[in-house]
Order: sequence, then structure tokens, then C-alpha cells
Amino acid sequence: MFTLELFIKIAILFSVQKVESFIQDPNLPENHLSLFYNTFPEEKVNCLKEQSCKNGDFVKSNQYDPEACWGFESDCKRENAFQIPKCDRGSERNEDPVKVFYNQADFGYVKTQIEELETYCYPKTINDSSLECSKYLRYCRGKKIMIDFINLLKLKEPIRYNMDVLKKGQIGGHCELKESELKKAVDHMGALQSWAPELRFFEGKPNVIDEHSCDIVIKEPTFIMKIDATYNMYHHFCDFFNLYISMFLNQSQSDAFENNRRILIWESYNYDSPFADTFKAFTQKPVWTLNSFKGKKVCFENVVMPLLPRLIFGLYYNTPLISGCKESGMFRAFSEFVLHRLEIPKHEHKLPKIRVTILIRRTKYRQILNADELLNELYSNENYEVRAVSFERYVKRY
Ligand SMILES: *[C@@H]1O[C@H](CO)[C@@H](O)[C@H](O)[C@H]1NC(C)=O
Ligand SMILES: *[C@@H]1O[C@H](CO)[C@@H](O)[C@H](O)[C@H]1NC(C)=O
Repeated sequence: MFTLELFIKIAILFSVQKVESFIQDPNLPENHLSLFYNTFPEEKVNCLKEQSCKNGDFVKSNQYDPEACWGFESDCKRENAFQIPKCDRGSERNEDPVKVFYNQADFGYVKTQIEELETYCYPKTINDSSLECSKYLRYCRGKKIMIDFINLLKLKEPIRYNMDVLKKGQIGGHCELKESELKKAVDHMGALQSWAPELRFFEGKPNVIDEHSCDIVIKEPTFIMKIDATYNMYHHFCDFFNLYISMFLNQSQSDAFENNRRILIWESYNYDSPFADTFKAFTQKPVWTLNSFKGKKVCFENVVMPLLPRLIFGLYYNTPLISGCKESGMFRAFSEFVLHRLEIPKHEHKLPKIRVTILIRRTKYRQILNADELLNELYSNENYEVRAVSFERYVKRY
């Protein structure tokens, strides 16, 4: 049997070997590399020194822009930002619409999250735990966090969107806990709205969290994810998108974008999705679910609870957007990142007409009500070659 313990031992062995080569290969699209090396100047120094650095030529070339920045950094000048969105007209509210849009749907959103970070669990010594979160516990990161999955043993059915995975004290750390502040932050009480359903039970522990506190110790950095519907491309990409921007929120070390993280999905259904391959842009390792830890006490050395897919005023489910604006650099960066990591080549189209395929559902709900009107309009445009196809999930019949 290939047990979890064995898995973890092998993983540790690998991570020990990795330390020897200190050159980071961030594996990012070329137009993101300047930003990476400007965020981590020591990596640029290493890359210039070491023959083995894949991006050596880039760093020496005039492609490399020493001023470039994403836009959320405190010293990022507007003219150096990755991309500035465009707006058609001024807003009624007398605010600069570009600025509003930037904060709603571009790297300004990342900046807000970073500014909101507050520590709820203060480490007093080097071996202590820590926990910090943005407002309403929408994004959190922690060190040496213990989670007890004992309740999962009692479940008769698999769970999803369940807010009672944990009970009081089944999550915690050894630190100075700001209990009343944490209580106040518990407000957005929805499974996919915040980490409040889990962190309301966070407790200060009397002893340091180490290998004696738990059945399993996860040393590898782990993202715990509460995900939306995996069979819907829009919903599942809300998960991937928020995972991507959460990497910016935790990029204090140059390995922030390494694709070797652990991912634990907070459900006890087996993970299944036609879009599952997208996880390969983030990690080469198989994803865990709660089934991996049933009945176990698990210590996470390093854990990130990313932004969730259904935050109130989050991205990008029910996002209130100022009208008339477009071209979010953050969305472009995500798209470029995923295409690059999945090695999806770009084929220039050589056909005389652009092919348009409209997917029409034959399901009971969510049909395109004006499909005929839409299609007629498209058919009448001679630049397009239009097809309407029925698209539904294959249902097995017994
Ligand atoms: C931290 O843990 C290590 C290993 O258990 C121990 O040797 C060290 O004394 C501890 N440091 C503090 C400040 O408690
Ligand atoms: C979060 O940041 C810390 C500190 O830089 C790092 O050690 C850890 O690996 C990161 N966690 C994840 C899940 O990327």
C-alpha cells in the first residue's frame, strides 16, 4: 500500500534535495519575469551568477524591465504597472472610474487584501504558531496549525459546503490569541463566503504544536480550498482564479509560485472535474480531500486559506463592477499564467472566417432564451462560420 505517511516521507526527501539548487525557476510567462525578478531582487543576483539559471539570457537582455511592477506594490508607479484598465466615461459618482475598477477587479484588489491583514494568533517564540487574515477572514495564512478531523468518522454521507466539519478546539495553535478580535471578524457565515465557519472554533493550545501534537505532520506548504461547483467552468474557474491571486497575497519568499504545493479540498467527495487538469498549473502533486485525513489530527506547518469563490463583493461571483470599464491586468495575468503552465500552444487562425460555436443546453434550466435571435444575428454576419451545438453532461443510464 502506498500510504499517506509514505507519500509524505518521499515528499520530504524530495524537498530536502531541492534546497541544494537554490536557483528558482519560477516557470512564468516571459512577460511576467521582470515582475518576478523585481519582487525578488536576490533571485536576479543568483540568476546572473549561475550558469544553470534558465532565465539568464532574459535577465541580461533589454527585454528585462527593472522598473516593472504588478500594481499592488506600495512603490509601484502607475506608468510601470502591468496594465492599466480602460474606461469609456467618467462615473456618476465623481470618482475616477479607472481607480474604482482597479480596486474592484484588478491588482488594486490584491492591495486591499494585503492592507487588511491582521494577526489573530501572535507567535511569542520561534516555535509558536501564527494566524493572520484579511477582513472577515476572507483570506488567511497560518504556521503550525493543528486541525482535528475526528468528526469525519461519524459522517454517514460525504460532505460538501458543510460548515460543521470542526467543533470548538478542533483547530488551534500555540500563540497569544486575540480572541475577541477573532470573534468580531466572524461575520460572513457562509461556506464559500469566508473561513469563519472553521476559524470560529480556533483555540489557543497550551503546548507548542509539533510532531507530538498530531498523528500526521504536513511540512509542505498547503492550500486548503473550499471550492465551488467543479462541473461548471465558470464556477470552478472562480476557484482557480482566487487561488492564483492568493499566491500574490503570500509571496514573501521567492518560491511563492512554485508548482509543488499541497492542495487540500475541504470536501469528502472524491475530487472530480472535467477541468481538473487546471490544478496542474498550481501543483504537480495530486490533490487531497478530507478523506485523506479522516479521524486524524493533522499539523500543518504552513497553511494558506485562499480567497473564496463566493465572497461578498469578491471575485468573480456576483461581483459589483463599475460599468464601462475593461482590460483588467489581473485577469490577463491569470489567463497567461494558466496557458503557460499548462503549455497550451497558441495557434494563429488561418481560416478565412472566424468559427463561432454556440453551446446550447438541452437541460431544463439555464437555457439561452433568445438563442434563435442570437443565432440569426450571427448567421447574417459573413465574417463568421456559425454552428449551434447541444452541450450537456453525459448521463449514464442503468
Ligand atoms: C524550538 O524547538 C527546538 C526543537 O524542538 C528546540 O530545540 C528549541 O529550544 C525551541 N526554541 C524555543 C525558543 O522554544
Ligand atoms: C506562504 O508564505 C510562506 C512565507 O514566505 C512560505 O514559507 C509558504 O511556503 C507559503 N505558503 C504557500 C502555501 O505557498
